[in-house]
Amino acid sequence: PVINPQSLTDYLALPKCLILVSAKGDIDRIYEDVQSSQLQEILAQNGYTDHSAFNFIESREGEFLMPGFIDTHTHACQVPNLGVGGEFELLQWLDNYTFPTEARFKDAGYAERAYPDVVRRIVNSGTTTCCYYGSLHLEATKILAKLVHDRGQRAFVGKCNMNRNCPPNYIEPSVKESIDTTLALIKYIEELPKTSNSQPLVHPILTPRFAISCTEELLERVSKIALENPKLAIQTHISENPSEVELTKSLFNADSYAQVYERYHLLRNNTILAHGVHLTEDEMVLIAKHGAGVSHCPTSNFYLSSGMARVGMLLDHGVKVGLGTDVAGGYSPSILSTIQHASIASKMLAIQAAQAADKKCNRSRDRHRRDEEADSEPSEPSEPSDEVESHSHGHHGHHGHGHKHHHHEDNCDGDKKGPGGFTNERLSIAALLYLATLGGAHVCCLQDRIGSFAEKKAFDALLVSVRDETGNPGVWGYNTARDLTDGVTAQSADRSMVEWLERFLFCGDDRNIRRVIVQGKMIGGQEYQH
Ligand code: GUN
Ligand code: FE
Repeated sequence: PVINPQSLTDYLALPKCLILVSAKGDIDRIYEDVQSSQLQEILAQNGYTDHSAFNFIESREGEFLMPGFIDTHTHACQVPNLGVGGEFELLQWLDNYTFPTEARFKDAGYAERAYPDVVRRIVNSGTTTCCYYGSLHLEATKILAKLVHDRGQRAFVGKCNMNRNCPPNYIEPSVKESIDTTLALIKYIEELPKTSNSQPLVHPILTPRFAISCTEELLERVSKIALENPKLAIQTHISENPSEVELTKSLFNADSYAQVYERYHLLRNNTILAHGVHLTEDEMVLIAKHGAGVSHCPTSNFYLSSGMARVGMLLDHGVKVGLGTDVAGGYSPSILSTIQHASIASKMLAIQAAQAADKKCNRSRDRHRRDEEADSEPSEPSEPSDEVESHSHGHHGHHGHGHKHHHHEDNCDGDKKGPGGFTNERLSIAALLYLATLGGAHVCCLQDRIGSFAEKKAFDALLVSVRDETGNPGVWGYNTARDLTDGVTAQSADRSMVEWLERFLFCGDDRNIRRVIVQGKMIGGQEYQH
């Protein structure tokens, strides 16, 4: 059985799918519906005659292959801080917990001890591609990149640029030092030995931490590196928290947060912007225009009380969206948690929108009723003052103040819908699956290599089991009474696969991930042997 994401609205559930993978780890052929009786013949046709010369992974009832998760935003150097500090909002959290934790990575020995566990844990969570922030330190971040490379995970690894608004023991002393170490890390990563496949798995990424922590001069120098290297990816934070947004606008004398990054040429198609909780629609238009992507980090956004990013509205504006754990703003390194919180955040936004529409509708109805009463009793006093407010800004403003007959139905049409119809809508299973895989691939500009199973793409996959023996009881079993046809193209009668997926996404964990495979090679999971 294979689950294969296709789009925000559709995925394939294929009970009898055969994927042929080359020795280099790329997908050669996909047969979507193979009967057991045809298997040997198809293998023979493709030259797989010597059974000892290839690996055969077979998934049983309750097991399936799916593309690996893509974590578009996480801080490797904050893992030691996981699950503490949630009483603060962003700027206090950085000062009180995060900067002191990251400062410890000045000691390369500490990085040597801490980072192996970090990488192992993230891999075993099913993340086959990860966008890592290291600390500001060159040595520690080299150690991280080397570990990721040796493990065989696909990744982007960057070291933070930060030369202001940081504590004295955790700040870069000069623009020169920041730029020199950045260039040295890029060179180091580019020179890591190639694996069996000629394409590198680990990529460097420019990481100006966020506008607040960079002087204008530093951003100019980072921007210069970016312009000279159009293929080099960029990651930073945007509009996570209201105090952060205000401070950014005032530091840079800018009308919006997105404008600051645009000013320094940091908005482009390989830019990953984390959070985007408080983006205005104008900023969404700007980000879409430059083709930059947003990493949606709902676990972090709840934990640090940042708010809920309007993912549906971003999608309707044509902004690419992927998911990020944002460890340790997020308290879980697993994209499964991010998926769950993305679902909940979208439901909260949908509930809020429905309530707001209801309130508007009720107000309009009340006004309508009062107007009619006023018509029959002309001596009644005028409307309460908040009504004057909604008159001037409302739907019917163009009729002028004195107009009496409101059609309240006009105000009951509820939430505004964008062209894709995602604004204020709940995220479906298809959408959640997409964001965790293909959506992330687009955000990383790796959609031609990863994110779904397709011929010529790399085989980056999870072998998932929701059987009892995984040690995560309660996941197994399915309810045949349900109609499971929504948003999925499922072959044959095996609709139970849809429930296997749904249950894995909402109550699965590391125990359900038997194998984590990158470029055809097992690098983690329950069956992985060191
Ligand atoms: N903004 C600047 N730095 C950080 C960070 O480390 N985590 C989060 N969540 N936001 C940031
Ligand atoms: Fe972050």
